[in-house]
Amino acid sequence: MTKQKYNWAILGCGKIAGKFSSDLKLLGNANLYATASRSLDKSTAFAEKYGFEKAYGSYQEMVVDPKVDCVYVASPHSHHHDHAILCLEHGKAVLVEKAFALTASQAKKMIDAARKNNAFLMEAFWTRFQASFEKVMQVLESGELGKARMMRSEFCFFAPYDPGHRLFNLELGGGSLLDIGIYPVFWAEQVFGIPSEITTTVDLAPTGADRSIAMTFKYPEGEIAQLTSSLAVCSDTQTEIWCEKGFIRVLRIDPSTVKVTISKKDSTAEDIIFHLDKGFGLLLEAKHVMECLDAGLLESPLLPLECTFRQMQLLDRIREIAGIRYPIKTQFS
Ligand SMILES: NC(=O)c1ccc[n+]([C@@H]2O[C@H](COP(=O)([O-])OP(=O)(O)OC[C@H]3O[C@@H](n4cnc5c(N)ncnc54)[C@H](OP(=O)(O)O)[C@@H]3O)[C@@H](O)[C@H]2O)c1
Repeated sequence: MTKQKYNWAILGCGKIAGKFSSDLKLLGNANLYATASRSLDKSTAFAEKYGFEKAYGSYQEMVVDPKVDCVYVASPHSHHHDHAILCLEHGKAVLVEKAFALTASQAKKMIDAARKNNAFLMEAFWTRFQASFEKVMQVLESGELGKARMMRSEFCFFAPYDPGHRLFNLELGGGSLLDIGIYPVFWAEQVFGIPSEITTTVDLAPTGADRSIAMTFKYPEGEIAQLTSSLAVCSDTQTEIWCEKGFIRVLRIDPSTVKVTISKKDSTAEDIIFHLDKGFGLLLEAKHVMECLDAGLLESPLLPLECTFRQMQLLDRIREIAGIRYPIKTQFS
């Protein structure tokens, strides 16, 4: 599907959908075409606010519109499976917010639906597309710091306890692990691969959602990763990768600025600031989707579905060990 402009639709007019839409406006080849909400009033207000041409009062009405090329699925993760499959079965290119699904089994069905319908599918894992990520991986691969042996990564923010909110409601996939813990888990998977041992310590909210989780991964060659996510505290959003001859620190300063420190033994540390002049960073993933479509690809070479599936399998393992269960039939595949 090569087009001069792609018609985008938004499924679920919530918080992140607003940020994504204002980023989409910054891309010359993205047309803000349609919004879809369970409420027509909400859809219309959202369309007016961000400048979409059409507003639909149901997801079903939007997916049957043949003019829609790409759909951004921005519902709670509990609904990504159903909503992504609905779009894929209508031949749309689909960008699904993280967490991609609740379980690996759901993720597999989404990937199967994409392949069956020859439709593009990708997880909206925006940090994968940041220049800071590329830089870190490049330094590690160059070997200049020796072998990476340990790491620490955290993502925490304080959210007041509200049992109905998607962050705490298990029916909506609540919990810190799937909301923000996936970032530290992603870093560990990218740097060290799949762990041979996992231990967890978890604090469950009264709803059963994980309010805080600390994870330790161990790898066959002795590498260790300590990972944390929490909805109960504030922290730096920081990843440190410790290598034989130095370390790398990745610090999120604000949503558009990341500082990467490369510290070599016996020399001064180098700070590199990666700053986005415009947008929230979500435009990077939308831009990448359209580049893939221009190239006739059905999945991203930077974030292949295999990578997303591996991550979902790892999250299943963590949840099984930690005793975090969602009210769905297939939990751990
Ligand atoms: N990439 C990032 O940085 C980032 C940041 C925040 C969140 N996210 C991800 O984006 C997704 C949405 O998060 P959000 O913070 O935007 O949530 P939100 O504000 O609650 O919005 C979610 C939207 O989903 C729709 N929805 C469909 N079925 C629903 C149901 N049963 N209950 C509640 N809402 C339902 C609603 O839209 P309608 O009422 O219009 O149908 C709602 O506004 C989550 O998967 C989250 O992890 C990503």
